[in-house]
Amino acid sequence: MKHYDLHLFVCENKRPNGHPRGCCADKNSVALRELLKEKVKTSGLNINVRVNSAGCLDACEFGAVLVVYPESIWYGGVTEADIDDIIESHLRNRQPVERLMISDKRYNKD
Ligand code: FES
Repeated sequence: MKHYDLHLFVCENKRPNGHPRGCCADKNSVALRELLKEKVKTSGLNINVRVNSAGCLDACEFGAVLVVYPESIWYGGVTEADIDDIIESHLRNRQPVERLMISDKRYNKD
């Protein structure tokens, strides 16, 4: 089994139109994951990075949502324009992109 240094999950959940919670698929997350995967592949990173699609991550109001493990860093409102920052800052230099992070306070609604 291959070990990944970083494992990214991008929510691609799709809900019916008009659903009150909305969904990441309606916020371009499918194309986002495809572009992220392609750019990771061609970025020359010297670590093993895996990009996977995910179902709902229960942070729908922050979509499009992705999470990076093992750090468990959650990003919200991610667009294709943010991909280069995520790759260079977080994946290459291990500095999370703070402007995109979903803080614990915002995420933990309980
Ligand atoms: S639909 Fe993406 S987190 Fe729920």
